[in-house]
Amino acid sequence: MKMKMAITGKGGVGKTTLAAVMSRIYASEGYKVLAVDADPDPNLALALGFPPEITEKIVPISEMKKLVAERTKSTPGAFGKMFKINPKVDDIPERYCREYNGVRLLTMGTVDTGGTGCFCPENVLLKKLTSHLLLQNKDIVIMDMEAGIEHLGRGTAQGVDVFIVVVEPGIRSIQTFKHVKKLAMDIGIEKIFVVANKIKNKEDENFVLKNIDEKECLGFMHYSGAVGSSDRVNKSPYDSDKETVEEVKKIKQKLEMGV
Ligand SMILES: Nc1ncnc2c1ncn2[C@@H]1O[C@H](COP(=O)(O)OP(=O)(O)OP(=O)(O)O)[C@@H](O)[C@H]1O
Ligand SMILES: [Mg+2]
Repeated sequence: MKMKMAITGKGGVGKTTLAAVMSRIYASEGYKVLAVDADPDPNLALALGFPPEITEKIVPISEMKKLVAERTKSTPGAFGKMFKINPKVDDIPERYCREYNGVRLLTMGTVDTGGTGCFCPENVLLKKLTSHLLLQNKDIVIMDMEAGIEHLGRGTAQGVDVFIVVVEPGIRSIQTFKHVKKLAMDIGIEKIFVVANKIKNKEDENFVLKNIDEKECLGFMHYSGAVGSSDRVNKSPYDSDKETVEEVKKIKQKLEMGV
């Protein structure tokens, strides 16, 4: 099965929680899963349940100065010098990922792959690596992103099988969904869905369905005290609440039917 999913949405809605639970579910089914932390403020390792000995040692790819220099043939710290714009990346996922609980994790660091930001060796390497993951890598790829899809270039975004925008029952995060949807449609992408998180009651569900098309909604994740406190005690939400895991399994099923 081919599945490349990118999870986005407003700050704090539950992107990392969903990415972590989804990754753990695929891993539990025996799939090769590559979870990609593409948030400049990375914390997917913790949500996946990686132990502190591993998380403390994770260096994001964009901060691996020697790797960046070696692959782009650039001089660290030198500005305006020539460098290679087509660096070798295909061995990076295997060599630099960390694995735990059957999930392999790659922490990208600050990603600006849209080409609008600085044209520097770090960005060139991350851009090439992101396209490689989405267009060539054979694993299930689950990408935890910051809000928006601007930082993905058009070609790279086309490699995503499904964009999931996480919303909460509130206008602000739904506004973010509408913004992302417009951006996606502008570059010809239609596979964009919503997961509504932190649902407390029927009223919340109705609120979401009043504001987005039911066909666009993959499902609901209810507010869970256990998931909320898992963050406080540094446990994976996957290991904290069976009901949340069941809800995400249903979302996954719907996703696989719709893609
Ligand atoms: N269903 C839920 N029930 C209770 N708490 C939740 C739920 N989903 C997420 N949370 C809590 O909300 C907080 C934010 O969740 P999370 O880190 O997954 O969001 P995010 O969208 O990745 O945030 P950021 O934008 O900072 O990356 C965390 O403390 C998390 O435990
Ligand atoms: Mg997050």
